[in-house]
Amino acid sequence: MHHRLTDIFQYLVDLTTVIVLGLPILFREIFSLIFPRTPKEVSGQLALITGGGNGLGREIALQLAGKGCNVIVVDVDLKSAEDTCVVLRKLNVKAHAYRVDVSSYEEVQSLATAVYKDFGPVDLLINNAGLIQFKFLEGNTTEDVHRMIDVNVKSHIWTTKVFLERMIERKRGHIVGISSMSGMFAFPWAVVYSTSKFAVNGFMAAMREQLRLQGHSEYIRTTTVCPYYIATRKDIVDFLQKPRFQLLTTEHAARVITKGILRNETMIALPRFFDLGVKFMQLFPVKVQQLVRDYMIREYELNQVQ
Ligand SMILES: NC(=O)c1ccc[n+]([C@@H]2O[C@H](COP(=O)([O-])OP(=O)(O)OC[C@H]3O[C@@H](n4cnc5c(N)ncnc54)[C@H](O)[C@@H]3O)[C@@H](O)[C@H]2O)c1
Repeated sequence: MHHRLTDIFQYLVDLTTVIVLGLPILFREIFSLIFPRTPKEVSGQLALITGGGNGLGREIALQLAGKGCNVIVVDVDLKSAEDTCVVLRKLNVKAHAYRVDVSSYEEVQSLATAVYKDFGPVDLLINNAGLIQFKFLEGNTTEDVHRMIDVNVKSHIWTTKVFLERMIERKRGHIVGISSMSGMFAFPWAVVYSTSKFAVNGFMAAMREQLRLQGHSEYIRTTTVCPYYIATRKDIVDFLQKPRFQLLTTEHAARVITKGILRNETMIALPRFFDLGVKFMQLFPVKVQQLVRDYMIREYELNQVQ
């Protein structure tokens, strides 16, 4: 009995501590929504972006270069990566392309060796490379599944494993994981893709807490990015013939994401209200959540999913 009373007392003390320490943080966050923090300076720093040859990665690279940041563009598609670099150099920054399959740990290790030798340490690691596939599970071959998990999930683990050590030594770094709205709200018309993005969110959340426990979180930041559809590729635009919400343009998405990264935001959902919407929805029973799916987000009814 004595034990239980002290347990309850301890619990109340802990709860009071959380409230006392939590309220100022909450107010500061609300304040920063109204008056956003000033973005950090990245001029002369080095960003490494995977999948920077095309689409969102390329636009984020351009946004960073516009702020004077040097950029390493990593892609399996070397030609596109080199094309990106040509445009980046016109913005008066250093840019270099490497052909790397980021799903291979060995290739990522060799990349780090080459980058450290040629350019030095990486300030911003942006894990953007990913494969997008709109399919029900039956439509996926086992090969598809392996590839999607290797590229979309393992690559984040490999690059972080390889580049984190130097960030810790330097007491400086920022790891960005490009996930997706489908990593917060399951997309049944893209089962394996959605699974891979939930995994990215899990990895980023676990890494963030690891860094905090180890005392590194004040100088090594993490940002998880969860965008709704972006008009980067023809297959995405074709899939969403009548989207419930407007597709984001690549340029707009990259601008918002880059701004959020430079403000050290932990989570960036695009459009912003989706984040709140998804979290709010999760308070309700699944059957109510399904009404939201049926009436508000129903792209899958309008299209052929393989
Ligand atoms: N487009 C969208 O609607 C959307 C929405 C939410 C999240 N995302 C995410 O944004 C990221 C970029 O998507 P995107 O629409 O720009 O796609 P994209 O296909 O236009 O570009 C992806 C780039 O990654 C490269 N890549 C693919 N596999 C690779 C590998 N194994 N190693 C190195 N590079 C590789 C490709 O060559 C390409 O240049 C992805 O992670 C995607 O899941 C996209």
